Amino acid sequence: MLEAKTERIKQDLEAMGKFTATPGAGMTRFSFTEEHRLTRDYIAARMKEAGLAVHEDSAGNLFGRREGAEAGAKAIMIGSHFDSVKSGGIFDGPAGVVMGLEVARILHEEGVKTRYPLEFAALIEEEGARFGGGLHGSRVMTGTVSREMLDDFKDRDGTTMAEAMSNFGLNPDDIASSVRPEGSLKAFIEMHIEQGPILENEGIELGLVKTIVGISQKEIEILGRADHAGTTPMEMRCNALTAAAKAVLFLDEAAKKAGGGTVGTVGRMEVYPGGTNIVPGRVFFTIDVRAAEMARIKQVTDAFETFLKELEKSGVEIKVTDRITVPPVDMSPEILDLFAAEAKKRGYSAKVMQSGAGHDAMIMASATAAGLLFVPSRGGRSHCPEEWTDYEEIKKGVDVVLGAVMALAEATI
Ligand code: GLV
Ligand code: MN
Ligand code: MN
Repeated sequence: MLEAKTERIKQDLEAMGKFTATPGAGMTRFSFTEEHRLTRDYIAARMKEAGLAVHEDSAGNLFGRREGAEAGAKAIMIGSHFDSVKSGGIFDGPAGVVMGLEVARILHEEGVKTRYPLEFAALIEEEGARFGGGLHGSRVMTGTVSREMLDDFKDRDGTTMAEAMSNFGLNPDDIASSVRPEGSLKAFIEMHIEQGPILENEGIELGLVKTIVGISQKEIEILGRADHAGTTPMEMRCNALTAAAKAVLFLDEAAKKAGGGTVGTVGRMEVYPGGTNIVPGRVFFTIDVRAAEMARIKQVTDAFETFLKELEKSGVEIKVTDRITVPPVDMSPEILDLFAAEAKKRGYSAKVMQSGAGHDAMIMASATAAGLLFVPSRGGRSHCPEEWTDYEEIKKGVDVVLGAVMALAEATI
């Protein structure tokens, strides 16, 4: 049985882990930055060493292609994303990209031939950490990102995604060329760290993801009135931050009330003008609501928007912008079975589970059969510098994807 090499996985993850904008304070790799460029170039170099034909699409997604024996056959895409949240860990995304690199290396070294072509993918802007619209790389590929949206997505400095792309050497006007033609993919396979505590707590080596929860993210802007903090009586204020504080607490309660594991988070908030002695005149914040059923998500977001309408009666003005809504998605049962069979063959323990995190696989599932495999996260920690998965655990995930890909691609050695 072919096997992944733990040492190479470690080497790649540690090398990529150095490309952060916040050394000593976790991994910060935003799209279209120097860290993006360094990581992309590292991945492209490893892809070339593995005999892959490297291509960057107009969105910035990177692919390494390996042809199959059958001309014109549908491709199997394998990989994950390589952007990060602010001060996150080195595994969220890159573990799945390195999985692809290792699978490609093994097939190359062993001279494995496949009937179907393989495309190893390193996708961008999955987190939406810079521009607010996550799952971007896969959404571009499936045709749900228009040219106009690239002007609409702005970072904290007001730079649009289109401007950032141009500065990075990409052509935003060419975004449509990155859409994959319908029916051109046979499958999309992603491996990712679990980012939760279930596998570790139960002492299980691999998670076979059946469903990815639905996600709704919105941006909220509350407009009040900036005034002198010493001279403006309490009853004369129109304080945007106290209104925002009520909204934050309401969201917590609404998510708990919806039940069934529904979660609601305000993860980003900015207060303007931001002075100790100024009544806040404007507050910007985000909401992120997730559940395994769309009805629960809608229950929370509807209740939240009704609450905002009530808040407006106090004099503030509130604007809501939808950023992304993706319903819960089932992964391909056939690929799940392939993962399960491969894990069994290799003596690795596995359990069927749900993903509470969003993944590119949930977008790719609209275009092809998608599979998602989890490896354990130490202490369930993720989106923080402490995020950790032992390299030996990642290796087991790579072994299982390798076997599943060889079966799907009809490999012959
Ligand atoms: C990505 O990690 C997400 O779940 O938002
Ligand atoms: Mn993440
Ligand atoms: Mn991720």
